[in-house]
Amino acid sequence: MNVKQLFDLTGRVAIVTGGSIGLGRQMAEGLAEMGANLVLCARKKERCQQAAEDLRKLGVKTLALACDVKNPADIQQVADATMTQFGRIDILINNAGTSWGAPVEEMRLEQWNKVIETNLTGTFLFSQTVGKIMIGQHRGKIINIASVAGLRGASPEFQAIGYHASKGGVIIFTKDLACKWGIHNIQVNSIAPGWFPTNMSQVLIERNKDTFLKTIPLGRFGNENDLKGAAVFLASAASDFVTGHVLVVDGGQSA
Ligand SMILES: NC(=O)c1ccc[n+]([C@@H]2O[C@H](COP(=O)([O-])OP(=O)(O)OC[C@H]3O[C@@H](n4cnc5c(N)ncnc54)[C@H](OP(=O)(O)O)[C@@H]3O)[C@@H](O)[C@H]2O)c1
Repeated sequence: MNVKQLFDLTGRVAIVTGGSIGLGRQMAEGLAEMGANLVLCARKKERCQQAAEDLRKLGVKTLALACDVKNPADIQQVADATMTQFGRIDILINNAGTSWGAPVEEMRLEQWNKVIETNLTGTFLFSQTVGKIMIGQHRGKIINIASVAGLRGASPEFQAIGYHASKGGVIIFTKDLACKWGIHNIQVNSIAPGWFPTNMSQVLIERNKDTFLKTIPLGRFGNENDLKGAAVFLASAASDFVTGHVLVVDGGQSA
């Protein structure tokens, strides 16, 4: 295969959780631009429908579904609907995520649980359900969206211990699953983005713009294209010998 064929995703089927807006939407667009058919799921179905409609203009097929990644029955429905519509699942991007800011001493159990259940348990549940299908196919690509917050702690101005713990968990979950499912020809990798302005991060970025920028060697935040290449690489045959990796996309923040 030449290198263009290695990156080509024509006819592949990808599920992107939280694919309606933000980084999930950006990665979905990247995969669609390389020819993949897309299943977008999140709690607010209308936003998935809007994104799906936009992506169809790229000439691919799409499906928009409501799903809370904390709910195993919702996840099963997404997997079933994808199989009914497309008959295969080649790529899963576990992107849906949330955060909660509060000092450790004041963080309530339900706030901690919401973050861990969405970011970490949701990643486990989706990987388990879709993984069973990928095992049957003897191929698959799972991409878990971690964060540079999963690589290290943060200074006391940034209080989101559940988020850090969940993303650290996503990274080691990725590595262990890569060890477990290599025999099934399933590559499991993770992307650790730095700061990208989205619904989730906008307020923090606005409040701390200059402080954050000083920590980023490239001197800017991530933009609407910066994650596409990483997602396409890890979703395509170009990464067939890469598994258990954490691909950091942060402008050098963690260098
Ligand atoms: N932005 C950054 O700077 C940054 C940096 C590092 C990592 N990340 C990670 O990147 C991922 C995407 O974040 P983002 O910045 O794009 O945030 P965002 O714009 O707030 O988007 C979050 C997405 O996740 C969905 N979602 C949230 N909870 C869900 C649930 N329980 N079930 C299903 N879908 C759910 C949301 O849709 P609904 O609300 O409709 O469910 C939305 O589609 C997250 O995992 C985040 O931790 C972001």
